[in-house]
Amino acid sequence: MNSPTEVTRALERTGYLSDSALATVTFLAGEMARPLLLEGEPGTGKTALAEALAQIHDVPLIRLQCYEGIDAAQALYDWDFPRQILHLRTLEAATKDGSLDPAEAEKSLFDERFLLARPVLRALRESPAVLLIDEVDRADDEFEAFLLEVLSTWAVSIPELGTVAAATPPTVVLTSNRTRELHDALKRRCLYHWIDHPGLEREVAIVRSREPDVPEALARQVVEVVQELRNEHLLKPPGVAETLDWARALRRLGTSELDLEQAAATLGAVVKYREDTDRVKHVLDRMLAR
Ligand SMILES: Nc1ncnc2c1ncn2[C@@H]1O[C@H](COP(=O)(O)OP(=O)(O)O)[C@@H](O)[C@H]1O
Ligand SMILES: [Mg+2]
Repeated sequence: MNSPTEVTRALERTGYLSDSALATVTFLAGEMARPLLLEGEPGTGKTALAEALAQIHDVPLIRLQCYEGIDAAQALYDWDFPRQILHLRTLEAATKDGSLDPAEAEKSLFDERFLLARPVLRALRESPAVLLIDEVDRADDEFEAFLLEVLSTWAVSIPELGTVAAATPPTVVLTSNRTRELHDALKRRCLYHWIDHPGLEREVAIVRSREPDVPEALARQVVEVVQELRNEHLLKPPGVAETLDWARALRRLGTSELDLEQAAATLGAVVKYREDTDRVKHVLDRMLAR
């Protein structure tokens, strides 16, 4: 892909509709071999971009889902302890005469066969690949420092096996829902982009692209309501995921035009908090009266 425009087109062929700012930063991340850090509200297409990139390049998508308390071992590797024990028992049984050499036996335990490669190690080994480090804001500082090192050196060292370095750096996408601020050092290593909710026309196009069965008029109505709801300061403003869910739900019910009754009945696809529901009913009344 030789230009942001080509990136836009390639993404579009996978059903992902980007704006030109996102296409540009995605293009540059590829050109400059830098990780791409995408921040934004939930449901704005951060994870989906990494999926689309893997599809475009026809390489595996290797996903590391971050969570509170995740540490380097969960990102890199573990030893398969039960299998190591079995291996040891087999060795013992095979050498009943006591000729088992302890040093040899130990060495054989830390063999490739018993290595459980986790996402970051897999990405280094299998690259070209897309490594998605999803929701990095859920992990803690220490884990961020670990990531920074891997993303700078493209290598890790395993005491029992030696250093594993990537032949070519994987394409890396980090996402954050911004539940906390990430460190400057990690941000500096990456190209950064804030993904906003799409504008009206693009969101209608996204619905049409992901759910071709949804008629244009219904897609438009759904998006208009959802976009209005995003200005209502709800506890959980609906993302594109909710727009798609709602359109699907209405389609299932055979709706071709949104009316108040069906909108109210299907609100569970859009609004996930009791407190928000009342607010939203209000907005619906107002909008559908127009
Ligand atoms: N620009 C887009 N083009 C196509 N689909 C999109 C776009 N943005 C979001 N989606 C769809 O919306 C849903 C939520 O997106 P996701 O990537 O999971 O959001 P995030 O990771 O930002 O929380 C997915 O089904 C995704 O395919
Ligand atoms: Mg996501």
